[in-house]
Amino acid sequence: MAMDFGLFFGELLRHPGEVVAIAPSSAAVARRMTAGLERVQGPVVEIGPGTGSFTRAILARGVAPENLTLLETNARFCAALQEKFPGVRVLNRPAQDIGEIGLSGIGAVISGVPVLARPTIQREVVGRAFEVMAPEGFFAQITYSPNAPISPEMQRELGIRAEKRGTVWANLPPARVFVFRRMQH
Ligand SMILES: C[S@@+](CC[C@H](N)C(=O)[O-])C[C@H]1O[C@@H](n2cnc3c(N)ncnc32)[C@H](O)[C@@H]1O
Repeated sequence: MAMDFGLFFGELLRHPGEVVAIAPSSAAVARRMTAGLERVQGPVVEIGPGTGSFTRAILARGVAPENLTLLETNARFCAALQEKFPGVRVLNRPAQDIGEIGLSGIGAVISGVPVLARPTIQREVVGRAFEVMAPEGFFAQITYSPNAPISPEMQRELGIRAEKRGTVWANLPPARVFVFRRMQH
């Protein structure tokens, strides 16, 4: 855990625009982010795993390592994740590539990617994820804002709806979890 903080902080200094958060997410946020994964069929994809706070919780929910793919842009984080989580597929690629990694019928996407502020990124990350998602699949997103990280207009454009899973105070800073699903589910 202390090693996670050291690696995280070093990469935050090197790549502040990509890492963005000031510390790895707490175990409490990780539990909230991964709720429901016990019932998920099909592959699970985590985007922006960093040092693996959510990865650990995903596996603890019973997802088999070979059923989990990580998309992370930071090569140092990727190397650490591969060592820490043997059997998990770790790809040093952006979340925007989710449609090109040979998966369909994805059961859930767990997202620590901090870049949902701009419409282009919302289309590229969330929109593309739903193109390869199972009909009942969900996309869980951490945010530090009290509002859904995607506007109602963009939700309509992407054919999804946001549902708040609440605020987790035991995190630095306090975090919110939102879940996106297809409109008809
Ligand atoms: C705020 S950190 C979150 C790390 C971890 N999920 C947590 O909550 O502790 C954001 C992570 O997303 C990665 N990242 C940023 N943009 C990305 C992208 N487009 N695709 C995949 N990973 C990205 C960063 O390198 C960093 O590891």
